[in-house]
Amino acid sequence: MGVLMSDDRMWGGRFSEPPDSLLLRVNASIGFDCRLLAQDILGSIAHARMLGRIGLLSSEQAEQMEDGLIGVLNRFVAGEVEYTDTLEDIHTHVEHELRDVVGADLAGRLHAGRSRNDQVALDELLWLRDAVSEIRTGILKLTNALVSQAEANATVPLVGLTHLQAAQPVTVGHHLLAHTFPLVRDEERFGDLQRRNRFCPLGSGSLAGSPLPLDREYVAETLGFAGGPTRNSMDSVADRDLLVEFQQVSALVGVHLSRLAEDLISWAAPTHGYINLPDACCTGSSLMPQKKNPDALELVRGKSARLIGNAVQMQVMLKALPMAYNKDLQEDKEALFDSFDVLRDCLALATLCVAGMEVVEERCRETVMSDPHLLATDLADYLVSKGVPFRQAHEVVGAAVAQAEKKNCGLVELELSDLSSLHSAFEEDVEGWLDIDASLRRRTTRGGPAPSAVSAEAKELAADLKNRMDSLQDISCPLLTDLAGAWPDV
Ligand code: ARG
Repeated sequence: MGVLMSDDRMWGGRFSEPPDSLLLRVNASIGFDCRLLAQDILGSIAHARMLGRIGLLSSEQAEQMEDGLIGVLNRFVAGEVEYTDTLEDIHTHVEHELRDVVGADLAGRLHAGRSRNDQVALDELLWLRDAVSEIRTGILKLTNALVSQAEANATVPLVGLTHLQAAQPVTVGHHLLAHTFPLVRDEERFGDLQRRNRFCPLGSGSLAGSPLPLDREYVAETLGFAGGPTRNSMDSVADRDLLVEFQQVSALVGVHLSRLAEDLISWAAPTHGYINLPDACCTGSSLMPQKKNPDALELVRGKSARLIGNAVQMQVMLKALPMAYNKDLQEDKEALFDSFDVLRDCLALATLCVAGMEVVEERCRETVMSDPHLLATDLADYLVSKGVPFRQAHEVVGAAVAQAEKKNCGLVELELSDLSSLHSAFEEDVEGWLDIDASLRRRTTRGGPAPSAVSAEAKELAADLKNRMDSLQDISCPLLTDLAGAWPDV
């Protein structure tokens, strides 16, 4: 790289010495903000059209500028542009290329009324739109896979745990739906933040707006920001709230995925053997030939830490940052992009595992059947149904458990005489309460594990998810629609 020209840097006029090479390297964000290329061009075209409307560019100049910007985009897409730290970021790279395409005089007019501070805020909000849509789609695919498996396994009994101890029988379907609802709520959270992404920061300048007669309403409308321009120029360049929200919701999805992954990992462990994972989601050991390890799920569980870490980094970076723009804000991007990449991949991996797993009904049933006291609460409920106060019923069944332990058998193996010696309310019909499938069938309270309840819930959820998928729309951007023919595949 030759001598730094002030005109390469776009800000060198007042300096007599170039920046230290170390600062040059640390200051450069092009290595990661190159991901904002399409958004930067789109925002620039909206700005150029606006400059044309208010007469700061002639209509020929505005048109030439727009063609030039598309030309620049094509150059980048074709891999013809070399990144250099001297040009710091994507914004400067684009303008530098534009110079080459339309000449320095016209290219030099694009930045009128604009700063990289409002430019980068805009680019990030435009990027967020697509990112959120893609993540929502990923969540919906995973929840669909969960719901299909839940429906297919609505009758398969499973030992339900509290404190990791056998508690009461549930079903595999019920357990899978328990993992589905958190993700459904997350999809909603992303929808909420997408709706909040409706104000356009461009025209806020460095921090203090502009004395030029910028038409901010036009720019907002052209780019599809339904709420219009942002309402405070300092907030506009200092605010990263929606990115924080994206990180936080992503971290929460990470937490939910990690809990799902953990359950599936233990289900797949030979000690349980409740599911077989598809080979495509597992790897072997270089030493132990017999091993089939659930790496996909372990990675999903492990990577959730990154999502949490990224969300924390973003907020710590923002904490106590003075108004308005500070270079610290450049540190928002790597973690943001990382969260997006990690979450997109984790959702897809989890979907692969869930859709491809095979539930081993015999093993699930065997474990349920071999648990001696899984129906203790059912026995207490039986007494309640006979008019015994619950506290008393609890006490009586506790004594029955003790008796079974003494006889070294399970509750279900006690004789009716054993039970009726503990309470006179026990009768013949208690048999029907000491059967796992009958117990499950009775649990029809809304949201309960009865196969019929699980099937109904799964059907309702499937319809809801289909609606969500059908109504998932990208935020409409009139400019992008207008440019459709000219816009390359970025
Ligand atoms: N690369 C910068 C960022 O990501 C763009 C804005 C730079 N603004 C400035 N005044 N240096 O935040």
